[in-house]
Amino acid sequence: MGMGPLRLICLWVVLLFATVILLVVISHSPSGALPRIPRSVRSDLKKLASKTIPNNIPQIFSNETYSRPCQGSPTSSKNTSYFFRVDQSGRGDFVSVQAAVNAVPENSEQRTIIEIKAGVYEERVVIPSNKPHITMQGEGMNVTIITGNDNAAKRGNEGSVTVAIYADHFTAVDMGFKNLAPMPEPGELGKQAVALVICGDKAAFYDCGFYGAQDTLFDYAGRHYFKNCFIEGSIDFIFGDGRSLYEGCEIHVIAETTGSITAQARSKPEDRSGFVFMDCTIMGHGLVWLGRAWGTSSRVVFVRSYMDDIIIPAGWTDFGDSTVHNTSFYAQYKCSGPGAESAVRVPWSYELNDDDAKQFLDLDFIDGASWIHATRKFVDNLPS
Ligand SMILES: *[C@@H]1O[C@H](CO)[C@@H](O)[C@H](O)[C@H]1NC(C)=O
Ligand SMILES: *[C@@H]1O[C@H](CO)[C@@H](O)[C@H](O)[C@H]1NC(C)=O
Ligand SMILES: *[C@@H]1O[C@H](CO)[C@@H](O)[C@H](O)[C@H]1NC(C)=O
Ligand SMILES: *[C@@H]1O[C@H](CO)[C@@H](O)[C@H](O)[C@H]1NC(C)=O
Repeated sequence: MGMGPLRLICLWVVLLFATVILLVVISHSPSGALPRIPRSVRSDLKKLASKTIPNNIPQIFSNETYSRPCQGSPTSSKNTSYFFRVDQSGRGDFVSVQAAVNAVPENSEQRTIIEIKAGVYEERVVIPSNKPHITMQGEGMNVTIITGNDNAAKRGNEGSVTVAIYADHFTAVDMGFKNLAPMPEPGELGKQAVALVICGDKAAFYDCGFYGAQDTLFDYAGRHYFKNCFIEGSIDFIFGDGRSLYEGCEIHVIAETTGSITAQARSKPEDRSGFVFMDCTIMGHGLVWLGRAWGTSSRVVFVRSYMDDIIIPAGWTDFGDSTVHNTSFYAQYKCSGPGAESAVRVPWSYELNDDDAKQFLDLDFIDGASWIHATRKFVDNLPS
């Protein structure tokens, strides 16, 4: 069957039209700027966005809590390292984790390994800033668990934390951190229940579990690496102003209705903080935002991650402040799964191209070359 002259003309018109559109698009992309979501999908996006449940999730922490400073460690005094064993059965050096932490030499430049035998340790653990270079070695994220059950309403936000790490160079391997406070209703205040807060610099977590609901993991400040971890929660459950790489982690959503995975708190565009999720999976139940802007320059990037159909299509929310559209940085790169469709995201988020993604694809994002090796060395050479 040959092509009629009318069809041929139509084809040419269509081709011409497409070329013109392409040229217009190209000429409007400022060089060096990141690609924006095309106009054509924005109306769909509005429809989808209006379907999602409004921002009925509560405020995060009060300002006082958030502005509390994390100190670095002072200069060395006793420069020694130890190996401690914590065992509830009494066969180790200590029966509680905090007792072992208390015995760690202050300000040491050498690493102390605290091996923690299987068990559920019902205690609160604080590692003060003068106890750097501690490694906690457990027997599995579901086997060695430190747990607490105080929520913010009971003891104030500070009291809701199970494990607080204010020291630099902290490492945890095969550990579980849990906060058992009951899950809050959407909109309910004062029910934050932090399983772990980390504000020391250069911290690494390998094969660790973080269990809670609202505000599970307070990634407060500093450079952090989370490898093959399991992180569970409902609302803002990975939050703070840390500069962190989450690699190969399972993000497990347990929202009853809606929630948000991240609430990243970068406050200035020139700050280098932000969360990068690389090769992670997002599963669970409920409907969640990938993130909501806690800080004015909130920065979160999902790289090559699998997203199940629990992501609110618009993806990101401004927390009621549209000025963050210009200052936040929310992006994905080569993600997959039914919840990963980047074309339906808010127009102020990005799908990265190869060049723009480069800065988020390896340990350089957290200056890892200079310190990750040290955490691994001790992980691999544990005394038997
Ligand atoms: C936090 O601080 C900002 C600016 O200083 C203020 O507008 C806001 O009301 C404070 N929020 C709370 C919960 O105190
Ligand atoms: C502490 O020990 C480490 C390793 O032996 C050494 O490199 C460092 O110089 C020591 N620091 C001080 C202050 O003695
Ligand atoms: C720990 O438990 C969770 C379920 O609570 C499970 O999904 C995860 O795979 C477990 N991790 C390991 C290493 O067994
Ligand atoms: C974002 O910046 C543009 C250009 O500077 C400005 O016109 C617009 O009003 C800003 N949007 C918001 C929500 O602040």
